[in-house]
Amino acid sequence: MDKVLARDTEGPAARPRRRAALISAVAGVAMVAAAVMVTSPSASAGTTLGASAAEKGRYFGTAVAAFKLSDSQYTGILNREFNSVTAENEMKWDATEPSQGQFNYSSADRIVNHARSNGMQVRGHALAWHSQQPGWAQNLSGTALRQAMLNHVTQVATYYRGKIYAWDVVNEAYADSGGGRRDSNLQRTGNDWIEAAFRAARAADPGAKLCYNDYNTDNWTWAKTQGVYNMVKDFKARGVPIDCVGFQSHFNSGSPYPSNYRTTLQSFADLGVDVQITELDIEGSGSTQATTYGNVVRDCLAVARCTGITVWGIRDSDSWRASGTPLLFDSSGNKKQAYTATLDALNAGGTTTPPTTTPPPPPTTTPPPSTTTPPPSGSGCTATLTLNQWQGGFVTNVRVTAGAAGANGWTVSLTLPSGASVTNTWSAQASGTSGAVSFRNVDYNRQLGAGASTEFGFQGNGTGPSGTATCTAG
Ligand code: XIL
Repeated sequence: MDKVLARDTEGPAARPRRRAALISAVAGVAMVAAAVMVTSPSASAGTTLGASAAEKGRYFGTAVAAFKLSDSQYTGILNREFNSVTAENEMKWDATEPSQGQFNYSSADRIVNHARSNGMQVRGHALAWHSQQPGWAQNLSGTALRQAMLNHVTQVATYYRGKIYAWDVVNEAYADSGGGRRDSNLQRTGNDWIEAAFRAARAADPGAKLCYNDYNTDNWTWAKTQGVYNMVKDFKARGVPIDCVGFQSHFNSGSPYPSNYRTTLQSFADLGVDVQITELDIEGSGSTQATTYGNVVRDCLAVARCTGITVWGIRDSDSWRASGTPLLFDSSGNKKQAYTATLDALNAGGTTTPPTTTPPPPPTTTPPPSTTTPPPSGSGCTATLTLNQWQGGFVTNVRVTAGAAGANGWTVSLTLPSGASVTNTWSAQASGTSGAVSFRNVDYNRQLGAGASTEFGFQGNGTGPSGTATCTAG
């Protein structure tokens, strides 16, 4: 499988763009032959959703159910139109860890293999969620649940490491009204469960974009939208590893497409995260439905960091809300008016250009502080610990700051409280897991200029260390 595609360093749209370029080139030859007839420059217009989105630097995806991959009409549309897939149910907790500690990836793998062998990227959905938990997890609480959840995140994200464009790390954690968290067994393990999940996911797959995903967060004036916005803002301020926000966007009369949708997408993007439309479906029919699909596409294209759109199924009959006929193809696989409106909106001008390559995880080496903050004196380095403790486990973030001479390599040493052990480390190489432990730089954060700093972190069981630690430069 690894032979088929390397990690998508060239961005989600690059492969389909090549395919589209070939199609355009062929079309271009045909157009030269018919030049006298052609007046508009339509040669670059994509003829499928995926190719057209790729021309705009985006992806166009769909939810896929593994058991439908043997339906040739379904697979035909999938392969022709889409360049991204999300497993509709197959990567959820109940599917991937049916018994505690026993992982089953067979259905999810069928989807991932199909995607990769057909040049499509994969959105991972979903690592931590109150719904579709296996029975054993539903019966856990407190530390046991917290540890089980972190283990689940770590195992699944590690298994798919390098194959997932973006993970929905946490799904639907906010309450429908009031702007606060949803009550759930996960929430009752402590308010920091979301950031703990993100840290575990980053450690397991540093190359995947990590998203928070939710519904009814489309209307900028709604309390739920503001609640999620404030969480993302706080995460960015505190360095919690979050890269993107997913908007499920299941629209119907009770939860209609809001005219301020573009404002919502842009406001989140302005926090420094990508935004993605992750589960789009719009109940209705005919031109009303088509117009709304067009509006959603235009809103995404108007926001530079809106990197792609996923519809939640292919044909109306595939939808989890089939009676609302909310998708782009009818139950016989024919293109609906909504399809044409979507493709036309993708092909129309007026787009903003997203970043061309998938950015790596946020840089951890920061430039030297401004002259108002003098660098620490001395030729060594200092290490300051920030502890995030919950019952039975912890994450410690460590800021390493070089002294006046800078540092070419550094090591942080500390002694863990008794009973504590390190389970994973990011942005450093750990030696030892309990008692006296040390953390050495990795390649990219080895060199620090005078007064410059970098951050690494580790996660563990028991009581974590805080305060300061010994830092040795060189
Ligand atoms: C839905 C699936 O489409 C159904 O097949 C399943 O029975 C229930 O879940 N929000 C999400 C998705 O994040 O995972 C849900 O998918 C739809 C709502």
